Amino acid sequence: MKYTAIMVAMAASTMLGGTLPAFADTNLKVYVSSQHQPQLWRKALDQYEAKHPGVKVTIETGGNTSEAQAQYLNTVMSAKDPSLDVLILDVIRPAQFAAAGWTSSFGAKDMSAYLPAYAEANTVGGKVVALPAFADSMFLYYRKDLLDKYGIQPPKTWDELKAAAKKITEGEHNPDLQGLSFQGKAIEGAVCTFLLPYWSQGKNLVENGKLTYDMTAATKSLELWKSFVDDGTAKKNIAEVATDDTRKEFQAGNVVFAVNWSYAWAQSQGKDSAVAGKVGVARLPAMTGGTQATCLGGWEWGVSAYSTHQDEAKALVEYLSSKDVSKFMAANGSLLPTYPDLYKDADVLKSAPWFANALDVVQTAKPRPVTPRYNEVSEVIRTTVNGVLAGVMTPKDGAAQIEARLKRILR
Ligand code: GLC
Repeated sequence: MKYTAIMVAMAASTMLGGTLPAFADTNLKVYVSSQHQPQLWRKALDQYEAKHPGVKVTIETGGNTSEAQAQYLNTVMSAKDPSLDVLILDVIRPAQFAAAGWTSSFGAKDMSAYLPAYAEANTVGGKVVALPAFADSMFLYYRKDLLDKYGIQPPKTWDELKAAAKKITEGEHNPDLQGLSFQGKAIEGAVCTFLLPYWSQGKNLVENGKLTYDMTAATKSLELWKSFVDDGTAKKNIAEVATDDTRKEFQAGNVVFAVNWSYAWAQSQGKDSAVAGKVGVARLPAMTGGTQATCLGGWEWGVSAYSTHQDEAKALVEYLSSKDVSKFMAANGSLLPTYPDLYKDADVLKSAPWFANALDVVQTAKPRPVTPRYNEVSEVIRTTVNGVLAGVMTPKDGAAQIEARLKRILR
């Protein structure tokens, strides 16, 4: 069986790795986002425990969105609470956590084996502050069976997507079938919602720490998303939809096109899925005349500065960030690898064939602005996207508000 084979391979290569630090009777607590396969991380941790008698690792999960998780961790870390030893952090957070003194440094570690974007996101002031857990990007998921039925190719522009969604939903006569699902709730993912069409017009938000906001591109981005609600491509209450809602609705067979991250693949192929074997994954469309662009995601392992088991926690993080674990999570949980050569690995490609084309997407994905005040930038963008989709402000007003508020934050 695939899973067993990989575990055997992991065990074998850990043994080849030789020297295992001996830690006696240590209990470590690891914080894992509930959306990102805690049951599989558990299996990787079981392997670790088997190789390190005396070390017991428990998992704590919480919050189904990136900001809910961050809020929880902010509370724990502000209280200097030593109960969590290892923390999984969204790629946008290591710099902030390091600046707050919440994570311990790994020093000037060699990060060259990882994809450069993650080596960069985890290095602050020349010091490595966290190690990569998994890579991520946003993709266009689509119902391959339905596109084939109507003789439609995966769309390269949002206009093409709109036309394809219309043709398919009209042809299917299924009132539950949505043309497109994306994240309109005021969550971190809505920052990427805004940026996708914005970036595809060739514009950046911040360059060299300075705001380079383009009002026309921003207005067009917000107008595009609102038009999907107004013309019925997306459902009316898209302003209430978070990432895992999109995943569930697509998996239930109620969505033709969906904007989502790589984790959604494994579940869409699982036994609870109505669409197993019927799913395609492609690059996200661009604005007409623009260039396809996507948002860089990913998660990182940090060691809490308040952990009373620093060495043991760091050794565990080295393991969790290793190539064997990256491969295991890719092959079993469709979390994108942080090591470039795993995108060609036969076991990985067997469970997620489209990863063969994903390396280039991840390598060209755009990071959200890097600034110590990222939380405020995020809040401005995601609440505005949400407000426009909910109809409480026009795209034009929304774009103007984003500019005014970002100007105050990024002076
Ligand atoms: C995914 C990405 C993460 C992003 C989040 C937004 O988990 O990996 O970087 O911030 O989605 O919802």
